[in-house]
Amino acid sequence: MLYRRRTHYAFAPDPVPLETLATLLATVFGPTAFLDAGPHGTLALRTSPSPGALQEHSAYLALYNVEDIEPGWYHYNPIQHSLELRTEGCTRQTVTAACAGQDWVADAAFLVVLAADLRAPMRHNPDPRSYRVTLLSAGHLGQTFALTATALGLAPFQIAADHDTALAAHLRIDNLTRTPTHLLGAGLPGDRPDPRLIPAGLHAFPADPPA
Ligand SMILES: Cc1cc2nc3c(=O)[nH]c(=O)nc-3n(C[C@H](O)[C@H](O)[C@H](O)COP(=O)(O)O)c2cc1C
Repeated sequence: MLYRRRTHYAFAPDPVPLETLATLLATVFGPTAFLDAGPHGTLALRTSPSPGALQEHSAYLALYNVEDIEPGWYHYNPIQHSLELRTEGCTRQTVTAACAGQDWVADAAFLVVLAADLRAPMRHNPDPRSYRVTLLSAGHLGQTFALTATALGLAPFQIAADHDTALAAHLRIDNLTRTPTHLLGAGLPGDRPDPRLIPAGLHAFPADPPA
């Protein structure tokens, strides 16, 4: 499964089953245990690590091709394992525009917007580097998402080119206490492999100098 992970750019037109989305969200964002952190309260742990166990990211969603779900912008509540509607309606045009014109994203089924609350990391480590550490957390969640989605038969991707002000407006978050750090997404895989792919073993990594 690790070796099957790829960033996908082509998708089948069929909707993603709701059960598949539910399993993905619970696996990546649901609590796996709780930690008694004394004065810091009870912290929820996930399948991905996070600095100080703060899990400063929330998962927001753009759903536009998921079975039995009206297209719209949602929040995933990991404790209730439920979706909370933020804004009704989610079109291919809004998705493409929010993803800086990357129109292939609209052929997928959903986006997950990772949005960080920077206040807890800044309290934990009052230093500009706490922002950098938050971005590392986003990367951990992104890889867990990609591997879990692959295991579930989905075609995942991640993007950094987006318009976070537009995303924040659709999701009705203030872009301050909840600010988008990374965009993930998936659809069902298309029926053709990417013609640009060359089998491994034929090429060295560009960074590896010849012996
Ligand atoms: C943090 C991050 C941001 C990315 N942003 C974009 C993006 O905005 N648009 C895009 O087409 N691909 C994006 N990619 C995907 C990369 O282009 C892709 O990972 C790369 O081509 C290698 O392919 P692979 O993931 O199948 O190994 C991003 C990947 C990462 C890790």
